[in-house]
Amino acid sequence: MWKLAIYFAAFQLIFAQKSDIPEYIKQCRRGDPQLIECFKGSLEHLRPYLSRGIPEIELPSVEPFKMDALALQLTDGPQGYKITLKNLEVLGASNFQVKSMKLSEGDEPFKARIAMPKLNIEAKYTSSGVLLIIPASGGGDFHATFEGVVADITGKVSSNEKAGRSYLHVDSLSLVLNVKDVNMNISGAFNNNRILLEATNLFLRENSRVVLEAMQTQLQKKLAQEFGKLANQLLKNVPKDLFYVD
Ligand SMILES: *[C@@H]1O[C@H](CO)[C@@H](O)[C@H](O)[C@H]1NC(C)=O
Repeated sequence: MWKLAIYFAAFQLIFAQKSDIPEYIKQCRRGDPQLIECFKGSLEHLRPYLSRGIPEIELPSVEPFKMDALALQLTDGPQGYKITLKNLEVLGASNFQVKSMKLSEGDEPFKARIAMPKLNIEAKYTSSGVLLIIPASGGGDFHATFEGVVADITGKVSSNEKAGRSYLHVDSLSLVLNVKDVNMNISGAFNNNRILLEATNLFLRENSRVVLEAMQTQLQKKLAQEFGKLANQLLKNVPKDLFYVD
């Protein structure tokens, strides 16, 4: 999605009759004095398509955005409290805004800052270890809301030829997440034993930053991988002369 920016960016080329421009592509012209604004607009134009998915190019919907697993070590020691989150589903990723963008120049990577006002995360969790003084092994549902999310994305693209047309490819992507407000809790765990549920939720409430930090590295890596995959799925289906026109 955001990577798009760059792809457009890094390169050039021509033609494309109106008829073969897919509706999810908003074209930008090479000489446009507001080129960056145009690229931002092209990315934002993709929003509803990313939200629904684009079946003709096998691009999955990002609502929900799915991730396999995150393993979090939350307190130290042999009985340290550990949470594993599985089957993560994130809602709200398509509601992004492109805050800024810098195109790749020479060896410099492209950069983009993306803001997402609110992400809702649902997952299955299992935990082990001791929390404060309570044995906290169990499993159930994990819920979180991240508000004021900013993702700073950096990446490299290359160009390759296929059947006489040029296509962009995202070779590497990294991402740094900043989250303004975090709220998380669990439900359906410990046979609904209220004391254990409340103790765990108290811990999560008071330590939401710690939990977020424990997630951060893995989350950033997975998001970067998934975004890279999405971007490449789009790019391998859309020659660059379709979105970046002379
Ligand atoms: C649990 O967290 C979710 C997501 O942040 C929130 O919507 C829900 O209201 C919370 N539930 C409780 C009981 O705090």
